[in-house]
Amino acid sequence: MRYLTIALAKGRLAQKSLAMFEQLGITCEEMKDKSSRKLIFTNEDLKMRFFLAKANDVPTYVEYGAADIGIVGKDTILEESRKLYEVADLKIGRCRMCVCGPENARERLNHHELIRVATKYPNIAKDYFYNKKHQTVEIIKLNGSIELAPIVGLSEVIVDIVETGSTLRENGLCVLEEICPLSARMVVNQVSMKREHERIADIIRGLQTLVREDTL
Ligand code: PRP
Repeated sequence: MRYLTIALAKGRLAQKSLAMFEQLGITCEEMKDKSSRKLIFTNEDLKMRFFLAKANDVPTYVEYGAADIGIVGKDTILEESRKLYEVADLKIGRCRMCVCGPENARERLNHHELIRVATKYPNIAKDYFYNKKHQTVEIIKLNGSIELAPIVGLSEVIVDIVETGSTLRENGLCVLEEICPLSARMVVNQVSMKREHERIADIIRGLQTLVREDTL
């Protein structure tokens, strides 16, 4: 039996998705050792391997088949547009992709003025403004702390993730428009889906059952 390799997005989702796998009996004790610098963890009994990667890289590993399965946010899937199958919504890490800014930017947004939009998600922002709203904007790519941009005058608005809304509130910003809801998804390499169909279908079914039980 060949190893089934699972790529998990580092950060908020990793612990939650590992906990879900654990409930299915797919455990990886090695991975819990926080002091370890190891990058890949193996469960020899199940012939499975796990690794943690930067969220943006998870779809890349999955498209090329270096990972058979990935657990990653819908935001990253949309931004990266990789060739892969999105097979399950794990309903964890739920949040929203939004256009945010100071209240006084609302009018400029509504009047389709040529505004600047700062974001970590230029493709999502482009698709939203150009294809859905038919609005020309200037998109500025940033790598973090996006809320700073309208405060220091880099842009009028931002496109970013809103979870609790506290980062916005604490910085005098608000949600101006909602782009889409987000949550963690399971993605699968297109060849692995055929070659390892039985093992992968079992995992999909298991995760879907957990998600259903959780919402009952
Ligand atoms: C994300 C996002 C917002 C914040 C939203 O940032 O970019 O800044 O979380 O969460 P909230 O609505 O609960 O306040 P993250 O912490 O991932 O770091 P980043 O600023 O480096 O992107």
